[in-house]
Amino acid sequence: MRIVLGVGGGIAAYKVASLLRLFTEAGHDVTVIPTEAATRFVGVATWEALSGHPVSNSVFDAVHTVNHVRLGHEAELIVVAPATADLLARAATGQADDLLTNTLLMAGDCPVLMAPAMHTEMWQHPATEANVETLRSRGVTVLEPASGRLTGADSGPGRLPEPEAIFSAAMALAGASVATAGAPAAPSAAPAGAPAAPSAAPAAVRALTGLTVTISAGGTREPLDPVRFLGNRSSGKQGVALAAAALEAGARVRLLAAHMEVPAPAGVEVVQVETALELRKAALHAAADSDVVIMAAAVADFRPADVSGTKIKKRDDVADPVINLVRNPDILRELVEVRDAASRDQLIVGFAAETGDAGGDVLEYARDKLHRKACDLLVVNQVGQDLVFGEDTNSVVILSRDGSEPQEASGSKSDVAAAVIDRISAELSRAVPPA
Ligand SMILES: Cc1cc2nc3c(=O)[nH]c(=O)nc-3n(C[C@H](O)[C@H](O)[C@H](O)COP(=O)(O)O)c2cc1C
Repeated sequence: MRIVLGVGGGIAAYKVASLLRLFTEAGHDVTVIPTEAATRFVGVATWEALSGHPVSNSVFDAVHTVNHVRLGHEAELIVVAPATADLLARAATGQADDLLTNTLLMAGDCPVLMAPAMHTEMWQHPATEANVETLRSRGVTVLEPASGRLTGADSGPGRLPEPEAIFSAAMALAGASVATAGAPAAPSAAPAGAPAAPSAAPAAVRALTGLTVTISAGGTREPLDPVRFLGNRSSGKQGVALAAAALEAGARVRLLAAHMEVPAPAGVEVVQVETALELRKAALHAAADSDVVIMAAAVADFRPADVSGTKIKKRDDVADPVINLVRNPDILRELVEVRDAASRDQLIVGFAAETGDAGGDVLEYARDKLHRKACDLLVVNQVGQDLVFGEDTNSVVILSRDGSEPQEASGSKSDVAAAVIDRISAELSRAVPPA
């Protein structure tokens, strides 16, 4: 595959030499385009030696090859790492003031993945947030940065995700399984002092390598007026733990994030949603190219029938307002119907938060829900004010539509996530007949 690897001017540029080696060792043809600032951190000689191609950052070099048009036209995948705040801004506003931004504008249908790295203040600045949103709305995959130690003594979200995570996300985005990404090059003689190429082999045997997993997390908020909403107690911790476990298993992970109290893991694609209707739209869109869909978000069953455009006032001369509710669509059921109508090969997992009552216990309600929704697996937990929501531990039962023995899992939310991802992997391997 022909890959353009854009490198931005941040400290993390040195880590991208390892990413480049992962691509070349997997048999891909990589042209590196560092920005002017990037060459202050890692020299052109390094990129040329490791890629085996001439490297430039100017549209006025080798003009006879029309690089500023050709590279974008020919690319089958463009990866930018580290994507600086400046590069995100230039890409979002469509500037073309160097070879890399020209190439991004010429990308056409080519998948583009950007892996940001910068200080937390820059990442969380409204200007950067708006640029990221703009890029994502245009179909660019912008990964979440990792949290941890930054360039100085400070730490927080803004670290470049590890090269292996960027590599997995890029391969999945391009639809190229790591295992089949082209004939792995024979162990090449690395130039003296070149960064050791992290082996792609472990990624190739991970259970979800090459698969796209969409996960919803957090709680939806249903507006009443511009300042008030009906919400729920979901913290998003279980969904985020699932995203981390799926990433660890080698998947490309897309997180449909409703209101969450915890950050998304580094290396996942985030689609922010607020209401159940927004989540429905995002889920149906994301499901179209997903191998697995896990609906772990707490979705409001009802929303206010009327949303006031202005703040509802407390007035002595008017009766207190009554909130009328209307039913939200059943997203899980709809996902199953769309999948079945399209005969799509896709595993759909629902979550059921039940309290149990005089009419039945938690498992009875859950079995009923599994029957109604017709998803493949249903992860059931008992919830209550002090149970599950916001806690770091969980205890679940995994029910299967094929009626197999319920499976229990408990421990930290990461333990539960690992058990759910293991179960999904087992279901997928059972579904694929041996070659
Ligand atoms: C030591 C040093 C480290 C920097 N690290 C980053 C960084 O990690 N992320 C970032 O967005 N900008 C960083 N900058 C600022 C960028 O280099 C600067 O915004 C530059 O204009 C980016 O150019 P480019 O986007 O064309 O690569 C750093 C600057 C210096 C001097």
